[in-house]
Amino acid sequence: MSGYRHPGAARRRTKPHPKGRQVDADVRREITILLGERSRARDLLIEYLHEIQDIHGCLPAAHLAALAEEMRLSQAEIYEVASFYAHFDILAEGKNPQPALTVRVCDSLTCEMFGARELLEALPAKLGKKVRVLRAPCMGRCENAPVAEVGHAHVEIATLKSIAGRIKKGRTNAGVSAY
Ligand code: FES
Repeated sequence: MSGYRHPGAARRRTKPHPKGRQVDADVRREITILLGERSRARDLLIEYLHEIQDIHGCLPAAHLAALAEEMRLSQAEIYEVASFYAHFDILAEGKNPQPALTVRVCDSLTCEMFGARELLEALPAKLGKKVRVLRAPCMGRCENAPVAEVGHAHVEIATLKSIAGRIKKGRTNAGVSAY
């Protein structure tokens, strides 16, 4: 039986290679430094995605690949979580970075009834190319529709003027409400 070879024998000679996008060494270093000594447990994934999004204004594909490797998760799993939430912006490879500021306008039913569509149509011309205007799902503030989010700051009973005014004053961080 010296000439016999098992049909699956060739597989053993195949070099193993990682699935998904290859990880860039510089980005890997950046992610390792960002996470530092903190846990790599999967329940911290959203927190780390937030941190990357805050630093870069988006989630570059290279950073998602490096985060997947660092947390020992599959890239598919990272993409699934990142694409589920409206406030994460995945930046595909080769695409230009997004404008630094994003304005999201809720286009769910109540906001739609109170003028969200008109806001969405008029805002790009009003705010110019440096601001990206996106639709977003309900922000849980329907009683003060229409609602927009300028950066991280919610604007209730939003108008063109109130949104533009907030950008002009640089008030784009989420405020902490008083008890
Ligand atoms: S419908 Fe717009 S905040 Fe709920």
